[in-house]
Amino acid sequence: MKTPIVNFLKSYQEKSPVRMHMPGHKGCGILGFEGMDLTEIYGADELFAAEGIIKESEQNASSLFGCPTYYSTQGSTLCIQTMCTILCQDAKSKGKKPKILAGRNAHRSFIHAAALLDFEIEWLYGNSDYLSCTISTETLEKEIVENNPTAVYLTNPDYLGNLLDIKSLASICKKHDVLLAIDNAHGAYLRFLEPSLHPIDLGADLCCDSAHKTLPVLTGGAYLHLSDSLNQVWKNDVKHFMEYFSSTSPSYLIMASLDAANEVLDTTFKKSLSECIQRVDVLKNALIQHGYTILSGEPMKITISTKEFGYTGNEIANFLMECDIYPEFYDSDYIVLMPSPYNTKDDLKRLETCLCKIERKSVVFNSFHKLERARKVMSVRQALFAPSTMIEVSKSLGQVCSSVSVSCPPAILPVIPGEVIGESSVEVMKYYGIETVRVVKE
Ligand SMILES: Cc1ncc(COP(=O)(O)O)c(C=O)c1O
Repeated sequence: MKTPIVNFLKSYQEKSPVRMHMPGHKGCGILGFEGMDLTEIYGADELFAAEGIIKESEQNASSLFGCPTYYSTQGSTLCIQTMCTILCQDAKSKGKKPKILAGRNAHRSFIHAAALLDFEIEWLYGNSDYLSCTISTETLEKEIVENNPTAVYLTNPDYLGNLLDIKSLASICKKHDVLLAIDNAHGAYLRFLEPSLHPIDLGADLCCDSAHKTLPVLTGGAYLHLSDSLNQVWKNDVKHFMEYFSSTSPSYLIMASLDAANEVLDTTFKKSLSECIQRVDVLKNALIQHGYTILSGEPMKITISTKEFGYTGNEIANFLMECDIYPEFYDSDYIVLMPSPYNTKDDLKRLETCLCKIERKSVVFNSFHKLERARKVMSVRQALFAPSTMIEVSKSLGQVCSSVSVSCPPAILPVIPGEVIGESSVEVMKYYGIETVRVVKE
């Protein structure tokens, strides 16, 4: 597969050109890669009006993902803002007021999109402990019938690696004629499993992937995918909507990285992914033999529920960091490790050796408080843009939350802007060591 963006940047650099254009570093600097950091000069195309090398590269990505695919240099965050715009415009085009039924574990970028676009949210709390937000087809159907939403928005996989049954959930959405958008920030690689577990292949209408989280792509590189079933109108408008939220100077380094990844994804990635999954499985089994509890879910996350082994996630993380092994995430209950095919066999061996040096202790019992459903008194937009003040969590009972600065466990908000802070939210914030919270000024 060709890499038109990389080729253009390399050949420009090789010409030793006189750079009478931005950026100001003129291709030199201490980082060493400034030479390829360009702006929209002649021949370099434009991300939001792509007609040349960027269009060709996005077409390559589209053929790899089997659906129209667009680049973001501002992560899944920009794609989520764009997806929400499409969901709102789609509802309006049908004469309806946008109302999105969303899994409560939505990332904060979704909340910010709700504030910017001012759409109504109904929360899906899932079946059991809503922190993992497991949503069955029965729950989804019941909520669709009760709330009459214009779209459904789910996060899959979540930060801990849990996977939903997207195929069945998508068929419920189709039955009720509501669009299904998936935050697949953690799952770009799912397309390269056999069979694919990518949300678009399982029936979602639109989805975002943070390429940088699981593929060999620089931080910030992401994809927005639209299914073929999505109205042609939104395919024509997608770049226009993206521009509402984006910088007018998208990074060519990130676009080049997405372009270079196409070549890898087209050739070696599937094989190296499947070999890596086998190695990770062997490692998971060794850890289970040693007594660890590993959550099931997506193959490329190793999520240890640490208290059964006698430690908090923070304690296990400290052991690892003393061995110069750095986890993706840890809190009181979990540690999340995110290997990729670019980790060597030796990396996995070092991880296993370090974890297996730790001796099992008696179970640490949990004082975890279950989150109750919060009462909404104003819209996300009203709360986020209202005059606000920071107060101590211990004094926040009964106040209206005004920000998304409280995020726990990973990416899950115990209280959302516009909701009254209840007893369980206070307890959960304290549990995660959150001492202050922004509230709407009385
Ligand atoms: C579930 C989820 N969605 C969206 C995002 C935002 O992704 P990005 O950092 O690529 O903008 C994250 C980031 O951690 C995430 O965990």
